Amino acid sequence: MELTQLLSIHSLLVKLFLGFILAGFAVALVPKSIDKIKRASFIYTMIFQLIATAILATGIYAIVAFDVPFGMSEIIMSIVWAIMMFVEIKKHKYIKNSAYDDIGLAKKRFLTTSIIELLLTAGVVVMMILKAKGVLAI
Ligand code: HEM
Repeated sequence: MELTQLLSIHSLLVKLFLGFILAGFAVALVPKSIDKIKRASFIYTMIFQLIATAILATGIYAIVAFDVPFGMSEIIMSIVWAIMMFVEIKKHKYIKNSAYDDIGLAKKRFLTTSIIELLLTAGVVVMMILKAKGVLAI
């Protein structure tokens, strides 16, 4: 495999990730009972981690196998990745432990977490576009 192919898989996964986060807003809006939210949140977190892990794996593969330097953009991507995992797991634990009548709080937490994840992912995408265009020298 060539580096360009690997990076197109990486960025395809990132697009999938963006679409998944957007679709995930349904979890905060559709379910009517706390049990359904808990179940949907569990499945959401599993798929979230699956896609995130694939993004990490392709990124590390590029660095290790193609000697891509671990520069500023790679550091930022790694930090953003870690923050997203952290907020996702925190949210999942919060929803899992929420009480029977905390449906509003659980939905609010899901929404705010999704907005943070969306902004972080979109931010990295914009950063990499600006880097590719030569606007940003990182
Ligand atoms: C939030 C997670 C991440 C997002 C949104 C993201 C996004 C992107 C995007 C849009 C590109 C440009 C792809 C292209 O050239 O078409 C890219 C490149 C790259 N990413 Fe990520 N990435 C993420 C996480 C990671 C992680 C965790 C690593 C590895 C530690 C990584 C390593 C790389 C490398 C090595 C490149 C190529 C560098 C370059 O073109 O200068 N990424 N990433």
